[in-house]
Amino acid sequence: MSIMKLLYFPNEKLRKIAKSIKTIDDNVKLLVNNMLKTMYFYNGIGLAATQIGINKRIIVIDITIKKNNPLILINPQIIEFDKSQIESKEGCLSIPIEQQYFILRYKKIKIRAKNLMNKNIELEAKYLLSSCIQHEIDHLNGILFIDYLSNLKYQRIYDKMNKIN
Ligand code: NI
Repeated sequence: MSIMKLLYFPNEKLRKIAKSIKTIDDNVKLLVNNMLKTMYFYNGIGLAATQIGINKRIIVIDITIKKNNPLILINPQIIEFDKSQIESKEGCLSIPIEQQYFILRYKKIKIRAKNLMNKNIELEAKYLLSSCIQHEIDHLNGILFIDYLSNLKYQRIYDKMNKIN
């Protein structure tokens, strides 16, 4: 397993729409392992393949404190959502600036995905897990959480990141 290089905003590759996975083969399994290693190494609670420059619909998440219970979602789709929204405080490994920002997310969602065993799974997620899944699925669609902020805030982050890159 290896730690992968992260792409940082405003890298254009973060705006790509990821492609669905057709078969879950050894390459996909290796990729997932590398994604997990990378997420844990950078202390993230979620990572999308897009963030390491891989144009495939895979996300990994682990919101546990012990960091020992990863959720691996292949081709994840939101199939239901509760209309009520929550203020979600977010950051992103692709935008490594100190500050976190509040945005709105659905409080409760139901998703469908495949796991690494190629089984279809459905699960309900609330609060942090719900926001986190929405954040990561957004990555697969080329959307960053800062897109939901005001133009002024977005521009400030852009300028800051542009200097670092
Ligand atoms: Ni992110």
